[in-house]
Amino acid sequence: MTSQVRGVQLARLLGQWHALPGRRRSPDYAALAAAVRGLLADGRLPLGVRLPAERELAEALRISRTTVTAAYRQLRETGHLASRRGAGSWTMLPGTHRVASTGLWTPLDDRDMIDLGVAALAAPPELVPAAHAAVEDLPRYLSGAGYHPTGIIELREAVARAYTARGLPTSAEQIMVTSGTQHALDLVLRLALAPGGNVLVESPTYPNALAALAARRARISTHGLAVDGVGWDADLLLGSVRQTRPKLAYLIPEFQNPTGHLMPAELRERLVATAHAAGTDLVIDESFVDLPLDGTPLPPPIAVFDRHSRVISIGGMSKPYWGGLRIGWVRASAPQVQRLAAARVGVDMASPVLDQLVAVHLLAQAPAIVAARRTQLVTQRDALLDVLAERLPDWRVGVPRGGVTLWVELDGPISSALARAAEEVGVRLAPGPRFGLDGTLERFLRLPFTLPAADLVEAVGRLAAIRYDLDRGVGRPRWREPAVIA
Ligand SMILES: Cc1ncc(COP(=O)(O)O)c(C=O)c1O
Repeated sequence: MTSQVRGVQLARLLGQWHALPGRRRSPDYAALAAAVRGLLADGRLPLGVRLPAERELAEALRISRTTVTAAYRQLRETGHLASRRGAGSWTMLPGTHRVASTGLWTPLDDRDMIDLGVAALAAPPELVPAAHAAVEDLPRYLSGAGYHPTGIIELREAVARAYTARGLPTSAEQIMVTSGTQHALDLVLRLALAPGGNVLVESPTYPNALAALAARRARISTHGLAVDGVGWDADLLLGSVRQTRPKLAYLIPEFQNPTGHLMPAELRERLVATAHAAGTDLVIDESFVDLPLDGTPLPPPIAVFDRHSRVISIGGMSKPYWGGLRIGWVRASAPQVQRLAAARVGVDMASPVLDQLVAVHLLAQAPAIVAARRTQLVTQRDALLDVLAERLPDWRVGVPRGGVTLWVELDGPISSALARAAEEVGVRLAPGPRFGLDGTLERFLRLPFTLPAADLVEAVGRLAAIRYDLDRGVGRPRWREPAVIA
């Protein structure tokens, strides 16, 4: 049974599609297609409905039929429309856009959107020279088969040196290179967590970690982080490890995503001891460890306190360098690394050699690159804080001492509604509930400061403009946030 949406109905739903504030560069047909995708994403246009004939929609929108034809064609190409000659066109979502747990999708062609859903910087200028240098190095590897399940030795050594420099003596045998930190987490979970195992995570936490845990059918319990102060409540955290004895705890102690909190040294030490006593493995995500701001000193890595191979550290290049590199790693005991490599062979064999060589060249310049990133982040963070104070003074926000995100307490439980409305004005947001388990956190919003200051100021201006129009009465969000959140 197919329902049908008539031209006038779709025109009403589309509203001001041609005049969205975010729309500056795209042609009419692309804007129309983007608006239809937006309706699909937020559930206002259901899947499987028949769209009006091209002529009918053109009349309803008072635009040329060729524009509608081109928009429909684009929607077909992106997998949002299925057509059969003589029978019409139905809405759908591309198979690749479906993610069972979250309903994410990724409109790659949405150039006018200010994307605050992703907390990652653009590539540094050193990337292209590093790529050229990597190509020069490649011949050294070409006489072999190119499969290095634990990673090429040069990169393993470079990563091990970085751990050692942080006060955690590490050998290359303890490092396994992965295709990003997310991949590292997935592999570690495969190895360390039987399906249905119980896991402790922070709340809020990184959404894609929740997705990885969901894939393992983990039973998840949470430790709620305070908004202010240290974040982790030592007694509550250690108490829940003692009581629930999770198989595994996943924590982000350095500039936690999304809150930006930094776990103090004393809690790190007690946590490792408590985890050992409870039989809990600690998976420590160090994605942001290179990004302390304002000269904030770093406590020792959690693994410094580990005497029993309880701690598996994961990290990667995405935050200080570039997400598109897809280079991450695991630091564990040498036998654990071997087991991970064996598991990995059944998944993706190995990471690309060329990308690993690029990573080697970038890590060789780490001090300069990372210093520039920190300077850039401080400027952008301060610009974001300033414009928030000016335009949305009722929102409460602390100053993170590192990382790339603000965790904003809103002036009401409006996060999903705000994100929905923001999409209409060309701003993509990752609303609070995405960082929790149970649809809570509606009073919170993560705002990354990874975009240029001008974009952040523009985005907050748009948010301020819609904030006071929001209908606080909107109940459960019907909308599915259309974004890769990172
Ligand atoms: C805490 C955390 N872990 C893992 C990732 C994923 O990183 P990667 O791009 O290296 O897979 C991110 C990216 O946002 C993150 O914030």
